[in-house]
Amino acid sequence: MVSPVKKLCNYSETGYNYAMNEATYKDRRDALAAKMDDGVAVIAAAAQKIRSNDTEYPYRPDSDFYYLTGFGEDNAILVVSKRGPQVRSVLFVQPRDETLELWTGRRLGVDGAAERFEVDEVFAVGEYAEKLPELMQNLPQLYLDLFSEEYPYTAAKKAAEELRRKRETKRPVTQMTDVRRIIRRMRLVKSAEEIALIRKGMEITAQAHHHAMRICRAGMMEYALAAEYEYCFKKNGAYSDAYTTIVAGGDHANTLHYVKNDDVLKPGELVLIDAGCEYRYYATDITRTFPVDGRFGDAQRTVYEAVLEVQTAIIGKIAPGVLKSDLQKTAERMLCEKMTQLGILEGPIEKLLEEKKHKAYFPHGIGHWMGIDVHDPVPYFDENGDEIPLEPGMILTVEPGLYLPADDPAVPERYRGIGIRIEDDILVTETGSDNLSAMIVKHPDGIEAICAQKR
Ligand code: GLY
Ligand code: MN
Ligand code: MN
Repeated sequence: MVSPVKKLCNYSETGYNYAMNEATYKDRRDALAAKMDDGVAVIAAAAQKIRSNDTEYPYRPDSDFYYLTGFGEDNAILVVSKRGPQVRSVLFVQPRDETLELWTGRRLGVDGAAERFEVDEVFAVGEYAEKLPELMQNLPQLYLDLFSEEYPYTAAKKAAEELRRKRETKRPVTQMTDVRRIIRRMRLVKSAEEIALIRKGMEITAQAHHHAMRICRAGMMEYALAAEYEYCFKKNGAYSDAYTTIVAGGDHANTLHYVKNDDVLKPGELVLIDAGCEYRYYATDITRTFPVDGRFGDAQRTVYEAVLEVQTAIIGKIAPGVLKSDLQKTAERMLCEKMTQLGILEGPIEKLLEEKKHKAYFPHGIGHWMGIDVHDPVPYFDENGDEIPLEPGMILTVEPGLYLPADDPAVPERYRGIGIRIEDDILVTETGSDNLSAMIVKHPDGIEAICAQKR
């Protein structure tokens, strides 16, 4: 049965929480257990990170932890154990504390978490180490982040070692497995609920990009335009950008992840903006490149149309069964052809591709998975090292670009200083694909029309 989401008064987890029904997270924990042998899995919330002295960055939980719990507080640990058919989920949380809460706000605490989450038990996080021997008793597999030095993982390894050394278990831990690999395979295909959140984030992202096209003008600082995105995101309920917004005027667009955003936007130049919001922990990742003062110059339009043609063709190829590596190869070939047509490269296409000459002007991948993380760390290859073909429910970006530096004498003069990337987020469907960002204008005439609606 699908249980209603429980609300707790005076608990100010606005927006971010209650994103999905609690049953969703229980189903995910059960799905994780179904992939486990008899054993214990440990997944921790991320630790708070200090920004300066005693001031922290805004908190964001570990994505795998959030995926399995829907819990946005720090200092929490999820333990899932599997013993034959029996699955047990135990959550450790920071207990309530009036003094601390005076400063940093109310927490769910042990009782609140027990009421809200569909886990079997909740304990104070301080009890984690002492509960581990019982939770791990006679379970020979430990599933954890193999590479993390964080306390929840080191404590679990230490408990396993002590149980074995003191012979306090008949079945000591004999195998440690990367729990993240299992969870991330689950995260690869998105559910309808997840897609709905990304669509909501996309509406906000679309508003922000169109707003930027309307207000942009020569003389503005890049950071001022970036601030408009942040304002648009936050006022619409997306608490954060999904990554640092890139506002790259002119030649700065040839720095792929230009985040300084501290130059003035100049007349006659293009501006490349790579910006997406994070809505209830789900990312969007969109790039648009448009003229600072609203009209493409001839050379700019020529390069723009070349990139757009490639992007449109690649999106058109997306369908179940397709390999992302084939999309990459097609994009590289098409862009290489465009480079020869524009007089940037010379010679037979096969030779240029073989010598990777095109990499000088298109040095990155055609796209990446996207989801809870903007670069969703979900697998591209299966356990055997074979590439995982596209299937319905996967979401990937398609982001070809041409980057023609101002100081590159090999580039015809008229194209120097032009950097263009066009990026959309594409859902793979049963019959092909659905461009989730189709509403964000990208045809040059459409862009000029929006830019003309100056405010
Ligand atoms: N926004 C980073 C990227 O497009 O991959
Ligand atoms: Mn991207
Ligand atoms: Mn991007």
